[in-house]
Amino acid sequence: MQTVPLRPVPGPRGLPWLGNLPAFGKDPLVFMARLRDEYGDAVTWSLGPRRSLFLSHPQHIAEFLASREHAYDLLDVGWAFQQITGESVIRSTGADWRRKRGLVQPAVRPRQVRRYARTMVGSALATADRWREGEQVDVRREMTLLTQCVVLRTLFGNDLGDRAQALGEAMAVAEHVVGAELRGIGLFLPGWVRTPSRRRLLDAVATIDAEVHRLIGARRDGAGAEGADGRRWTEGRTEGRIEPRTDGAGEDGEGGRDDDLLTRLLEAADEEQRPLSAKEVRDEAVTLWAAGHETTSTALTWIWCLLSRSPEVRARLDDELDRVLGGRPPTVDDHEQLHWTRQIVKEALRIYPPAWVIAAVAREGAVLGGTVVPAGTAVWCSQWTAHRDPRWFPDPTAFRPERWDADAPDAIPDHAWFPFGGGSRACIGARFAQVEAVLLLATLAQRFHLEVTPEEAPHQIGILIQPAVPLVGTVRVRPRS
Ligand code: HEM
Repeated sequence: MQTVPLRPVPGPRGLPWLGNLPAFGKDPLVFMARLRDEYGDAVTWSLGPRRSLFLSHPQHIAEFLASREHAYDLLDVGWAFQQITGESVIRSTGADWRRKRGLVQPAVRPRQVRRYARTMVGSALATADRWREGEQVDVRREMTLLTQCVVLRTLFGNDLGDRAQALGEAMAVAEHVVGAELRGIGLFLPGWVRTPSRRRLLDAVATIDAEVHRLIGARRDGAGAEGADGRRWTEGRTEGRIEPRTDGAGEDGEGGRDDDLLTRLLEAADEEQRPLSAKEVRDEAVTLWAAGHETTSTALTWIWCLLSRSPEVRARLDDELDRVLGGRPPTVDDHEQLHWTRQIVKEALRIYPPAWVIAAVAREGAVLGGTVVPAGTAVWCSQWTAHRDPRWFPDPTAFRPERWDADAPDAIPDHAWFPFGGGSRACIGARFAQVEAVLLLATLAQRFHLEVTPEEAPHQIGILIQPAVPLVGTVRVRPRS
């Protein structure tokens, strides 16, 4: 493939000291779309004193994402974010990142995801059993509760019991404060400044930490040899490590401790047989939880909204669910057969990518499109802008899952669609999230339609792109064919 040369042009003039920060802070999506539409594929601008470069061409985006491991540092995203993630894989670089990624990745590899699939469908069936004809539900809240249930059960098995709700609420508070800080002056405030919202964040994180450390301690000490599900789980222990069971117990992924993510993290050891410390297990578990539930629930919320106003897409979905599932709940093996369902998820992730930006700071020697990027430059690319680029997605705001037909005439270039990022730092949970979104959607859509109002919801930006208003879904039971 021919290299597209990188020819950066200056973007809009900024203010002294602040640069383009006010315009970016007011609405980053509008600001970044303007950079592409008015200036081109590679635009220089400044965020406060930081020299920045915004990329819009898929080839430059691919090259940037692929070279981050060696040629870029993480952009500082402030004190608040780190209170949730600690020093986990998402905030590490270099050898430390490679070690942690190597330890966490096996916990979410496809074979494991197969096991979590039954928890996913089981959780969706419990939601379906609650919904009643004509009932009005808050779509975002329902999807958040559902993905929270999936992530907590896949992380901790059934051990949380009735503490799950308090923990979910603590995480919601923490995420809210972090979202607000990422958009405002909080990004630049040092950690010792304690605003009221920062105190709320610290309280919420303390609640989460106490519970997660309790669970880690209980597993390491072998306390409570019987899980809440009554299964024994310590039989295979040697020298304080939990050994995988060989008798097949827990294979169903239905909340058994043997196969939950926490067990996987406690079992993990690097090449020198060093396990993760308790603090490292906490950081990875809480990061998987935070990174893994609201992203997927946001995607599902937008999917219901898009489906509600697209009767033809919805009718094809009904046909597929009836044909492939014939009235039974889906299993992980159906995932590959549910082509249209997968295309719906893919197209929704295009129009409303939950994560909207990736940025990193160039080190000495960073090169893009044959041009040296000066060290210290923050390089940015945005899923929102790229996914709505009319060069690759004609009529970009139209919801058309058929764009992703295997024989579609329009060739979509690599990295024109990258909701999960790319390169070696791409989302560790991409497979988990895609299987989860398809199985939750298939389970619920098989039994219900949701008539969502308002039909056209405005969006707002925090950590993720969310609907700015509550979406009310009127439940309609689908007659079984
Ligand atoms: C629709 C759902 C999801 C979306 C849109 C999403 C998106 C992303 C994006 C854009 C990144 C940054 C990638 C990059 O820098 O190239 C990321 C990283 C990450 N995601 Fe996800 N994610 C989702 C679900 C999940 C799930 C379910 C999990 C865990 C089970 C997860 C765990 C992580 C972790 C740990 C990282 C950091 C990886 C690293 O830095 O090495 N995500 N995700």
